[in-house]
Amino acid sequence: MILSIESSCDDSSLALTRIIDKKLIYHIKISQDSEHSTYGGIVPEIASRLHAKRLPEILKKLKMFLNNDLSLIKAVAVTTRPGLSVTLIEGLMMAKTLCLGLQIPLICVNHLKGHIYSLCISKDFATDSAKDSRKNAPPPLLESHLKSHTESLLESRQNKQDSLGVLLVSGGHTQILQVNDFHHISIIAQSLDDSFGESFDKVAKHLNLGYPGGPQVERYAKNCEINQYKPYEFPIPLLHNKKLEFSFSGLKNAVRLAIQEMEQPLSLQDIASISKGFQNAACEHIVRKTRLFFQHFEGKYFAIVGGASANTYLRERMSELCNEFDKELYLADLEFCSDNAAMIGRVGVEHYLRDEFTPLLEAQIAPKSLKGDFVESATF
Ligand code: KG4
Ligand code: ZN
Repeated sequence: MILSIESSCDDSSLALTRIIDKKLIYHIKISQDSEHSTYGGIVPEIASRLHAKRLPEILKKLKMFLNNDLSLIKAVAVTTRPGLSVTLIEGLMMAKTLCLGLQIPLICVNHLKGHIYSLCISKDFATDSAKDSRKNAPPPLLESHLKSHTESLLESRQNKQDSLGVLLVSGGHTQILQVNDFHHISIIAQSLDDSFGESFDKVAKHLNLGYPGGPQVERYAKNCEINQYKPYEFPIPLLHNKKLEFSFSGLKNAVRLAIQEMEQPLSLQDIASISKGFQNAACEHIVRKTRLFFQHFEGKYFAIVGGASANTYLRERMSELCNEFDKELYLADLEFCSDNAAMIGRVGVEHYLRDEFTPLLEAQIAPKSLKGDFVESATF
């Protein structure tokens, strides 16, 4: 089995993935939401110190799960990029120590690749945490029997129609990717400034809703719908720009200015109306740019991954768009949308099977993806 570690941002997580059938056999994660909530965003120094405390704590639990017998662990996979340097280093240090102690190889994993592989995590156990605690969550569109199909999608594509388009929406990234196989993933579009998830966090900060903002803003947006309040109307980003790129900072500023002009303190109705108006504009922007992508993309399959892919309204809008263009939509299980070590372990197995290891002395963290992580796109 592979032991995997994720600490690229504010989630300390470990997992065990069986090599032979690529199944997840153990997964543990501690989020730092409450510690960062009062600041309205991640404080890297606090995040780093919490990882230093919690990674060893959860390693202890993982060892108990294995009855202290670590001999079945064949390699350690760890997120080394992209992410916050001060938090990535905590995971890498633990990984190196384990590799040295157990005399096993190290696998360095790109976090974004991890999000893509969150589509094919298959569990060999049932847990309470597997139950989705979000209210009004849609039934997962990705049935378990489709997972093996998705997995084969991520293997070598001979035919253009078989390639997988991916929208990655997280706190650090907003990208459209084209996946041809494990080593051939190209970035088709990305954000010029803030990411989709980050803009939710910043809007939540202006509204004093705490961190992470995505679920909070979504909750108020839903409240706006339920009470039939009129959503605030915000301009849709890059409306007349025909390039495949995203931008959220203008929208975020428009929200800030609108809030400033309102009578303080804001009423619940104001918060709901701002949240819904912002969510509408942000999702409309994503839908319009993906529509542009679909006009050129010949692949039949499309997926949405990353923490913000949990957003129900985004899922609904993208599902409609996929129907319109006859694309088959894949979504990760909600528990694996946000950062987790299970997805890192799943990529780790792929590297392991290809003998792709990094010597301990060469392994480093990097705040951004490395040059070789993605390939140039010929089509776009
Ligand atoms: O993938 P992730 O866990 O971490 C990064 O790699 O950045 O994504 C976290 C981001 C946060 O910005 C959070 O606000 C956003 O995902 N998010 C959401 C929702 N749930 C989480 N954004 C919009 N709607 C949601 N329901
Ligand atoms: Zn992430």
